[in-house]
Amino acid sequence: MFTTISSVKFFYQDKGEGTPILFIHGFPLNHQMWRPQIDELSSLARVIAPDLRGYGDSQSTPGAYTMESLADDCANLLDAIGITSPVIVAGLSMGGYISLAFYRKYRERVASLVLASTRAGADSDQARESRDRMAELANRAGPGAIAEAMLPKLMAPQNYHRRPGLVRDLKSIMESSSTDGVVGALQGMKTRPDSTPLLPQIQVPTLVIHGEDDQIIPPAEAALMADSIPGSRLHIVPDAGHMPTLEQPETFNQLLSALVANI
Ligand code: MLT
Repeated sequence: MFTTISSVKFFYQDKGEGTPILFIHGFPLNHQMWRPQIDELSSLARVIAPDLRGYGDSQSTPGAYTMESLADDCANLLDAIGITSPVIVAGLSMGGYISLAFYRKYRERVASLVLASTRAGADSDQARESRDRMAELANRAGPGAIAEAMLPKLMAPQNYHRRPGLVRDLKSIMESSSTDGVVGALQGMKTRPDSTPLLPQIQVPTLVIHGEDDQIIPPAEAALMADSIPGSRLHIVPDAGHMPTLEQPETFNQLLSALVANI
């Protein structure tokens, strides 16, 4: 489905009934990374899964995409489709950065948080330099070059070697991103604030989910987050890297189903 917000056209999936779950995808992906969750959870809940601006079928705009502005896009999408009650916000990696920005700005709209494969801290100087190199590569060679560079790190090494179909799917999702989307999100991630001070203030049930073999964000970051969020629960998923949603969908879906049942 499509909706236009402030002259920007957004694509989103809206499936099922009940408690809304807003799924916010990672970089440089789109709503399709949530396919196993959309298929399964939509029998228990109302699943809303947008393509962020610049990704999938949503329009791109030039300039930096701060995590706050992407959280605003999500809030505006909920308004546009008439969802005013609190939602479960589930974000993976960059989607987790946006989820924390969403909580900071719109906490009354959040019933529960799912922080998957993400971290609370800001970028180090080294990470910022790496963002600049990636942006330069995207401008020079397009999103396909970013896909090539990131693919081997997205999954656990064993899954990367034994699941070529999944590698192909992820590659084509990444290649469908726009250059403006990739560069805009890199600039936004690079300047995102440290969300660590927010963690002790989180007052909704929170699940922290992380692949045991994540090569992009170490599982220790998830443990640090879970330690600081009152009452949160940490699940380290075996045999999964940065994409537990796709590498171990049954485990991921069971965790989410249990959360939905308790809301
Ligand atoms: C993501 O998966 O969203 C990104 O790798 C996060 C990041 O680059 O910090």
